[in-house]
Amino acid sequence: MGWKTLDDMDLNGKRVLVRVDINVPVVDGVVTDATRIQRIVPSVRDILSAGGKPILLAHFGRPGGERRENLSLKQLIPTLEAAFGTEVLFAADCVGTEADLAAEALKPGQVLLLENTRFHAAETKNDADLAAGMAKLGDIYCNDAFSAAHRAHSSTEAIARLLPACAGRLMQAELEALEGALGAPKRPVTAVVGGAKVSTKLELLGNLIDKVEYLVIGGGMANTFLVAKGLNVGKSLAETAMKDTAAEILAKAETSGCTIVLPTDVVVAEKFEANAPHQVLPADQCPEDGMILDAGPDSVSAITEIFGKSQTLIWNGPLGAFEIEPFDAATNAAALKAAALTRSGQLVSVAGGGDTVAALNASGAAKDFSYISTAGGAFLEWMEGKTLPGVAALEGQA
Ligand code: 3PG
Ligand code: MG
Repeated sequence: MGWKTLDDMDLNGKRVLVRVDINVPVVDGVVTDATRIQRIVPSVRDILSAGGKPILLAHFGRPGGERRENLSLKQLIPTLEAAFGTEVLFAADCVGTEADLAAEALKPGQVLLLENTRFHAAETKNDADLAAGMAKLGDIYCNDAFSAAHRAHSSTEAIARLLPACAGRLMQAELEALEGALGAPKRPVTAVVGGAKVSTKLELLGNLIDKVEYLVIGGGMANTFLVAKGLNVGKSLAETAMKDTAAEILAKAETSGCTIVLPTDVVVAEKFEANAPHQVLPADQCPEDGMILDAGPDSVSAITEIFGKSQTLIWNGPLGAFEIEPFDAATNAAALKAAALTRSGQLVSVAGGGDTVAALNASGAAKDFSYISTAGGAFLEWMEGKTLPGVAALEGQA
């Protein structure tokens, strides 16, 4: 691969600006899944043990260029300190005097965390001046944020051209694992794509059709496809405005030899609430006041049967409203089947995305998957064969 790694850099005494993705779920100030934090530990530890001084650059949420206290990275300090086993200092801005002074004062063994890069509107514009302000804080740039590498932002792209740059351990591991499992995948390949909205994954669905033999569509976006097929989905989450596009995807799949799998039976409730009274109905019989919250058992059997015929599985997005019981049933059952097939060596399974990883962790399936990526969007764009700006900016540096 055309990029340097931490092993290629002389880290001793150097300030290393490490772009990390610590965009973790937080509920009432508590980190509910620290996977992304745990996975950046190798880079931070390796830099520290080589005598380097890690300065962490990261975004958090989508503050849209405004300073929003609930999106301050400061709240992650205890979780970071626990993960690194070392003190984490903080600067309330990622550029400017306070950051300059904090970076200068950093001592070996300490880690400095800079405030949310997206408090600057310039960040998401890949602004060169903002990148220069950040670059000034370090001697070396290390990108360890594979899951943000699909963004061309000042802290992921522009900055990589201003300093000697390398990939961090997680970036390396993600790219190697994805290449190993999916670079030349064993066929048939099945992709499970779920989640709320078709509109956010439209291009992806269109591109995947040419790359996979089976495309299982789940979650809210499956409802939009049911609407496209002329079915009534009652009060279910669906983007009716997207129904023509969904119909085009169905038509395209037919000509490209990809089987699109939609639910044939559904779990319907009257409200979106844990343990809401519910019933299993054929997909074409959702009542006006019903809400589809999960795929039904027949659909799950069809999906697991396809897993059994597949050699490779790519999974992003749950099949139902996995966050409330019992509407996690289809996701859990399918995930456990994928885990069992992986364990017995019949399937290579790769999953990515925050909700997906949370769902696979909850079902206990995650540990048996071949690989769990910290990335959602970046993983999917990598799958589509797109160039990731954050990775491309590291190339040509070797
Ligand atoms: C993610 O959580 O998917 C990454 O951190 C990227 O975040 P973004 O979708 O807000 O750019
Ligand atoms: Mg995202």
